[in-house]
Order: sequence, then C-alpha cells, then structure tokens
Amino acid sequence: PVRYLGNRSSGRMGFAVAAAAADAGAAVTLISGPVALQTPPRVRRIDVESAADMLAAVMDGIRGVDIFISVAAVADYRPLTTAGQKIKKREAGLRLELVRNPDILATVAALQEKPFTVGFAAETEALAANARQKLADKSVDMIAANLVGAGQGFESEENALQVFWADGARRLPRAGKARLARQLVALIAGRYRKGARQEKVISLNAQDSA
Ligand code: PMT
Repeated sequence: PVRYLGNRSSGRMGFAVAAAAADAGAAVTLISGPVALQTPPRVRRIDVESAADMLAAVMDGIRGVDIFISVAAVADYRPLTTAGQKIKKREAGLRLELVRNPDILATVAALQEKPFTVGFAAETEALAANARQKLADKSVDMIAANLVGAGQGFESEENALQVFWADGARRLPRAGKARLARQLVALIAGRYRKGARQEKVISLNAQDSA
C-alpha cells in the first residue's frame, strides 16, 4: 500500500539534523518514517509509518517543545481506500483516488503556543520563490530549501541548502549532510535566541506602557 511517508527519502538529512541538535546539547525526539538508519546517540526515537501516525506522534509530544524541525518528506496525498486483499489485474488500467494528507508542519505552526518552527522545502524549480511562499503560507519561522532530483537532495550523502526567514536568508553550499546539519542547527539556534530576546523586550515594553 502507498502509505509510506515519502518514497524517495532515505531519512539521512533528518537523522543528521537530529544528531547535530543532540551534539549541540538539545534534548531531541526524532519521529521517523520507515528508514534503514541507526538512531544517533542521545536521541529518543519514535517510529511511524503513515502521515497520520506522524501527525499523532507529533501532537502527542509537542507540548513544551522549544524548536520543531520538519525534515520528513511527508506524502501530500494518500489513497482514499485501502484494499483488504490483493488487487487482481482484471482491467487494463487502474485509477487510484487520492485525498489530501494533513500538513503536520502547518498544524504545529498554527498552535496557540507554538514552538520555533523550521520547515524544509524540496523544490525542482524556482527554489527561492517557492520557499518564501511556504514560509508565508505555513507561518513558519524558517525554511531550509533544497533542490531535489538529478542526483540531488534525496538519497545522496550530500546536499545544499538555502535558508530563509522573514527578513533574511543564508546559503549553505553543497557539503555532506552531517556538516550541513551542524551549520543549520547553529543558524536555528542563533535565530531562536534572537527571537527570545525580542519577545523579552516586547513584553518589558508592554509592562512599561501598562
Ligand atoms: O531523506 P533524504 O534522502 O536525506 O533527503 C532529504 C530531503 C530531500 C527529503 C529533505 O532535505 C527535504 O527536503 N525534506 C522536506 C521534503 C518535503 O516534503 O518538502 P515539501 O516542500 O513537500 O514540504 C514542505 C514542508 O512541509 C516540509 O517541512 C515537510 O516536512 C512539511 N510537510 C509536508 C507535507 C505534509 N503532509 N506535512 C508536512 O509537515
């Protein structure tokens, strides 16, 4: 059945980000689709199979989380029905009806007490424009965009990222996924701390004017 999260994702990028965050001192929970990778040291792992399972696991653990990073290539659609038995090849063609999956990242970003949210964007064209659109559409704090296809992004040991936030961007050139993940985690930590400082100033100002 076509239930899996993302057909061509090996999970390497997500596991590298989890490892880099744990190395940086974070308490990390990694919610993973079906992949053949070892859990990084000091990372708590929860295995799921479908997008619905992943959403349930995320919502179960999201309370009190400071930073949520959504690297999984979650399928946007799933089949409307699942056959209980093997489908016999009677007809020349077969039509599958698909329905939308929930958007996990957008669901987290819409929470009233939302963590600092980081999404990934897998693009095959117009990377910057599409990534900025996702930043706005999903109301996330940061988007790490990568080109996929033609030996890039999926499955490969290497990747290249362009990271976008409301008033800035940073290019992380092609490198091994472990190295890129460390650079990304450093960038996230910097933006997260900046946001926390601004919030403090805003609430102090709010007290001043009260
Ligand atoms: O696993 P690897 O082989 O190492 O490959 C890495 C990668 C290419 C999968 C990774 O770097 C990457 O780009 N991950 C995000 C892929 C993706 O689903 O992009 P998207 O543009 O379709 O989705 C945008 C964001 O929404 C992502 O943060 C995604 O996790 C999230 N999403 C998408 C669909 C959905 N139903 N729920 C979501 O939360």
